[in-house]
Amino acid sequence: METRQAILARRTVRSFAQDPMDPALLRELVAAARLSPAAANLQPLEYVVVTEPGVREDIFDCLKWAAYTAPVGTPDPQHRPTAYIVVCVRQEYLPPIGSDFDLGAAVMAMLLLAVDQGVGSCWIRSVNAPRAAKLLGLPPELKLDSVIALGRPAEEPVAVDLEPGDQGKEVIRYWRDESGKHFVPKRALDNLLHWERYGGK
Ligand SMILES: Cc1cc2nc3c(=O)[nH]c(=O)nc-3n(C[C@H](O)[C@H](O)[C@H](O)COP(=O)(O)O)c2cc1C
Repeated sequence: METRQAILARRTVRSFAQDPMDPALLRELVAAARLSPAAANLQPLEYVVVTEPGVREDIFDCLKWAAYTAPVGTPDPQHRPTAYIVVCVRQEYLPPIGSDFDLGAAVMAMLLLAVDQGVGSCWIRSVNAPRAAKLLGLPPELKLDSVIALGRPAEEPVAVDLEPGDQGKEVIRYWRDESGKHFVPKRALDNLLHWERYGGK
């Protein structure tokens, strides 16, 4: 898949087919994250891959899904993720500007490579981090930041364009229609893009 196509096609997926994820692909995702840009090249991120069914269930219980539509959007037992990559930040390596930028870059690399390989993902930060950290045996110097839920998609969410006049906080709430299809409104390009100066068309 072309990079452009992967960027455009990526949507958050919250319903997954149950065939197991290829461990080699999970390794490849972390290998891609490893090569992402890092402030001062400190590379504070580490990753825990979870595939065992029992641990997957325990991690699932630490997650909150789709706040705008909950409980709709939480995967039912037949459509739960088949793997997780838990993203952690090693505290003693932290650059003075923080690791949020590294995290965004590394996670996006994994999400796009996942799309390229036919894998759907949901980047989750509503995590009961103390509970998940205990389950995974994380040492205190590793702070759990995010959980990436993965699996072959069992749904095809759609991005829809907001009208240029649609501004504000409410319009961006994603929703599901009667058939369960998930729609994600994206702000109009004309509201975000300014040519040469603010407001320039
Ligand atoms: C930093 C971050 C945290 C997120 N946390 C959650 C989460 O806790 N639970 C969830 O279901 N989705 C979560 N999402 C997914 C967003 O809801 C999703 O990206 C957004 O609705 C836009 O949809 P799209 O990814 O298909 O473009 C998160 C996304 C980001 C970038």
